[in-house]
Amino acid sequence: MKVTKLWGSLVLAGSVVLTAGCGGEEKAAGIDPKIMADSLFAVMASDRANYTKLIIKRLGAQGKFIKPDEHWEDLENGAPLPAQMFRFGAEAVAERTDAFTYSLQSLWPINKQNAPVTEAEKAGLQYIVDNPGKNYYGEEELGGVKYYTAVYPDVAVATPCVDCHNEHKDSPRTDFKIGDTMGGVVVRIPM
Ligand code: HEC
Repeated sequence: MKVTKLWGSLVLAGSVVLTAGCGGEEKAAGIDPKIMADSLFAVMASDRANYTKLIIKRLGAQGKFIKPDEHWEDLENGAPLPAQMFRFGAEAVAERTDAFTYSLQSLWPINKQNAPVTEAEKAGLQYIVDNPGKNYYGEEELGGVKYYTAVYPDVAVATPCVDCHNEHKDSPRTDFKIGDTMGGVVVRIPM
């Protein structure tokens, strides 16, 4: 009787330890949201840079065969701009998974759809403007779900960035300069 009781409590103690162990391991095995967000951003930034460098730049403003143009759909030979390609990617990803969402946004958006909506988006976009070279990492709760929200600066690295935005009829800002943070990529991961 005594022995059984002892085994009973040992098994019980053991299962408690096991459960605690499992819980701990489960946590350790999950991806750190910062690493996930940073990795996703690395893919997005590389794809956009490559599309700009390998396709758009080689076509030139007056592409012979295909012409990069915001209104590419209305042209027989139009090609989407890098920011549009980026948004089409984000929209396609949103149809495939809800493990994360992303978007290219700005406090001064040409496309009103790219304006910040949530508090973290607004705070993050302001933070990357005020702190050049830094990313923003925060958490927010939307509709009862907790999210990890990261914002990465999108900088005017070349003259066409500032010229096109400053001259665009829908741009709320017309004094962008090379080196300015024009907006940012928002990556949101449910926790
Ligand atoms: C030929 C014009 C053109 C050039 C060049 C251009 N953009 Fe844009 N950009 C646009 C348009 C149009 C949009 C809106 C796209 C959409 O419909 O989502 C946009 C969107 C953006 C956005 C999202 C906020 C917004 O304004 O809607 C950011 C940030 C941005 N561009 C930054 C840049 C940077 C940085 C560069 C240079 C590397 C650049 N752009 C080059 C036309 C341009």
